[in-house]
Amino acid sequence: MEHRLSLDLGERSYDIVIGASLLPRLGQLLQPLVQQQRVAIVTNTTVAPLYLERVTQSLQHVGISSLPIILTDGESFKNWHSLNQIFDTLIEQRFERSTVLITLGGGVIGDIGGFAAACFLRGIPFIQIPTTLLSQVDASVGGKTGINHPLGKNLIGAFYQPRLVVIDSDTLSTLPRRELLAGYAEIIKYGIIADASLFSLLEAHVEGLLRLDNPLLIDVIHRCCAIKAQVVAADERENGQRALLNLGHTFGHAIETLTHYESWLHGEAVAVGMIMAAELASALQICAAQDVTRIRTLIRRFGLPIVGPSNPTSSNVSIDAWMDAMSRDKKVEGGQFRFVLPQGIGKATIYRNPPVSMIAQAITSCSAKKA
Ligand code: NAD
Ligand code: GLY
Repeated sequence: MEHRLSLDLGERSYDIVIGASLLPRLGQLLQPLVQQQRVAIVTNTTVAPLYLERVTQSLQHVGISSLPIILTDGESFKNWHSLNQIFDTLIEQRFERSTVLITLGGGVIGDIGGFAAACFLRGIPFIQIPTTLLSQVDASVGGKTGINHPLGKNLIGAFYQPRLVVIDSDTLSTLPRRELLAGYAEIIKYGIIADASLFSLLEAHVEGLLRLDNPLLIDVIHRCCAIKAQVVAADERENGQRALLNLGHTFGHAIETLTHYESWLHGEAVAVGMIMAAELASALQICAAQDVTRIRTLIRRFGLPIVGPSNPTSSNVSIDAWMDAMSRDKKVEGGQFRFVLPQGIGKATIYRNPPVSMIAQAITSCSAKKA
């Protein structure tokens, strides 16, 4: 079974294909888009031993040879050095403007590979094959590409859309459990901001989804991609509603900063961030208390954290440290905080400058002592 949906961006429109056992069929899926008989595959040291051969064999069956570019795994390698490694190979191998670049891996690989494709010869076609749940429902769709700078995450990049996204749910069987759960945080996010029936479906099928039951999982990935495709089609460059995809991210980025990007996965930080956003929305009386409870309960049932980080002396991180970390978020505009807040389940809004006391209260409500 396979789902196909289209992200409508005029001449830059592309399909997202979602299903099981798609890697063996990759050659057929890609063939119409590949003009030359060779492609580059950007992947990493973890994913290559798992899936590279399956991909190269499938391409070989349709007469396409591939050149693997294998980067060191890890967020700390999402940098200039890895980017240059891609450029060095493409230049040495005399790749041309019509050569296709394939990214095979999680969001780190998709973001670096996509940015390399955006820059090399001022832009070559690229195809995303995301292999983590987070990248399948979020990072591979929508054309945000880039690398980190030592002074901040994702500060250098480009909007550059792929020509195709191929999501094979089978790849999730090898994903470490913590990474899988982090992906579910982003899925819960879509339910909160845009789709109450998706949220209810998640509530009804936590165990099946954690077991990776199909066709349930494929259906859920499809629904998330459909929401993202619709949001991106309406606001590709995040001038408006695309910002809603950042629910929980202002608090979540602060958690990542406060813990030096070492102990929390992005999805885990977003999970707690979404609860804080819901608590803030409740204090501002735009979200009912029972919806806050539903959000917290679902996040907990997916095995995600529901309290923020504590400091080594066992008390919670100070509110001043939180405010300082949040003031550096990309969504701060002219010194004003802009929070994405739920208005119940299935709808969200952007709220400017809520009272600091309410922000502090929302953080405290997710503190270790309180929970
Ligand atoms: P990741 O790419 O680091 O992958 C997580 C880990 O899982 C890595 O060790 C990876 O090698 C491994 N892995 C990947 N697929 C696997 C598989 N099938 N089996 C076993 N191991 C596998 O992390 P991620 O969560 O996928 O992505 C996070 C990155 O994505 C961040 O850099 C973030 O900034 C970016 N991101 C981008 C967007 C966007 O719109 N472009 C959106 C969200 C996140
Ligand atoms: N991950 C948020 C976005 O793509 O806009």
